[in-house]
Amino acid sequence: MTTHSQRQGSRRASGLGMRGAWGPLAGAVLLAVAGVAGAAKAGAGPTPYRVSDNCAICHGMRGASTDYNVIPRLAGQHKAYLVMQLKQFRNGHRADQNGNIYMAPVAQGLTDGQIDQLAGYFAAQRPRMQASGVSHAGAKAGKAIFMNGVTSEQIPACMECHGAQAQGASTFPDIAGQRYRYTVQQLKYFHNGTRKNTLMNQIAKNITLTQMKEVAAYLSSL
Ligand code: HEC
Ligand code: HEC
Repeated sequence: MTTHSQRQGSRRASGLGMRGAWGPLAGAVLLAVAGVAGAAKAGAGPTPYRVSDNCAICHGMRGASTDYNVIPRLAGQHKAYLVMQLKQFRNGHRADQNGNIYMAPVAQGLTDGQIDQLAGYFAAQRPRMQASGVSHAGAKAGKAIFMNGVTSEQIPACMECHGAQAQGASTFPDIAGQRYRYTVQQLKYFHNGTRKNTLMNQIAKNITLTQMKEVAAYLSSL
């Protein structure tokens, strides 16, 4: 069960408040990015990209970190989706707040080859992302939204694209077992248009904060 103070913590760690809380992390990222740039300049042929020097700081070695609640799980995510997102962070297309602050500097240092390698590495991690065992309120209502949509608000059934088990395919992400706070955050970004995707911007247009939390509660329980 989530305690009251855990929920307060989640709220504080979201959005702008996170900048402060992540002070030390931002430093680690700068170091990690400097490392990448340095390796690229060394000129002694391609340096194998080191997940442990960079991605692992935030995502964990296997893409299953639970240290920061707005950082997504990557373990077992579809490779094509991961490639696309890394390229979108790199070219500035995915410029929502957390993406801009934390992923853009990382992605700017990556070559196409490294993106391919990293996406393949995280896609191959097992066990794939899965429920953490922490339950959040509203999962039952969230399941109904996922399976049937909300006709009165023109919200389509999520399963139409993400699959009945929320497993996704190719560039349609697996969202089963994704972290609660991350999913709520992404739905907010799609809703306010700072994360751009024609399909998801339309889908999230009418979704309320309560509905975002419900559907995230369901997905994080899978
Ligand atoms: C400073 C912490 C940090 C580091 C280091 C970091 N990430 Fe991230 N990553 C994040 C955050 C935060 C997000 C969520 C961004 C958002 O909300 O748009 C994210 C999102 C992603 C996503 C999008 C996943 C999805 O489901 O859409 C991918 C892919 C990703 N990171 C891969 C990597 C790889 C590969 C590395 C190493 C090269 C890396 N990240 C390094 C913090 C980090
Ligand atoms: C018409 C197809 C379609 C429908 C219906 C749909 N999605 Fe999506 N969804 C996508 C696509 C495509 C993406 C990838 C967006 C991108 O590339 O940035 C996505 C991305 C997402 C993400 C981001 C995942 C991540 O790892 O960052 C979440 C969360 C999400 N959808 C939730 C939902 C929910 C909840 C619903 C139902 C209310 C829904 N989707 C309905 C196509 C769809």
